[in-house]
Amino acid sequence: MGKFLPGMAALLMLLLLVSYSHSDTTLISPKPEAVQEWMESHSQPNAKQKITKLRFYFHDVVSGKNPTSVTVAQWNSSATTPTLFGLVNVMDDPLTEGPRRDSKLVGWARGMYTSASIENLGLLMTLSFVFRDEHGSTITVVGHNQILNKYREMPVVGGSGLYRLARGLVTARTVWLNVTTKDAVVEYNAVLLHY
Ligand SMILES: *[C@@H]1O[C@H](CO)[C@@H](O)[C@H](O)[C@H]1NC(C)=O
Ligand SMILES: *[C@@H]1O[C@H](CO)[C@@H](O)[C@H](O)[C@H]1NC(C)=O
Repeated sequence: MGKFLPGMAALLMLLLLVSYSHSDTTLISPKPEAVQEWMESHSQPNAKQKITKLRFYFHDVVSGKNPTSVTVAQWNSSATTPTLFGLVNVMDDPLTEGPRRDSKLVGWARGMYTSASIENLGLLMTLSFVFRDEHGSTITVVGHNQILNKYREMPVVGGSGLYRLARGLVTARTVWLNVTTKDAVVEYNAVLLHY
């Protein structure tokens, strides 16, 4: 037992390292004292707000051997409704600097979208944009995405890292869609108010 446990611990550690090694921000974890200190200095009435604008491209890959967006649940009749009502997808979609897939990777869209509209093709997006910066900064988007509209607008309800206490908006515009596979590239523009 005494010999077995350290061996198990080492094996678990190795498994964790191996499974996380594809993502260089997963291991970043902020120190609680540093976050508390930051909150105290930025929650004063005269704390100055910043505006940050970001643009990135979201690659939703639902087809092929390595999809980054997968259907995890649906109503027994989702597939036969015109709006796929009741379908739930989980995604870990890459975000890149430019519209091409081989453009620089800047982060990931991690979360879910749910077909939540009976009449229009409308998704409830609940996701974090996780950025590949030195803080592993995130912004959280929760909103309605009527994907056939040219521009869609969704609220940013919070953030972490560089975007602590963020609120704001993202706009989404589909720049490429394969009508056969339904793979898509979407341009996102974010405007964030934060401290
Ligand atoms: C689908 O679900 C409904 C209830 O929502 C049920 O009445 C129906 O029998 C189900 N159909 C099939 C094909 O399982
Ligand atoms: C869409 O996907 C299909 C199936 O993979 C492929 O044959 C086709 O070339 C793609 N179309 C475009 C415009 O990329």
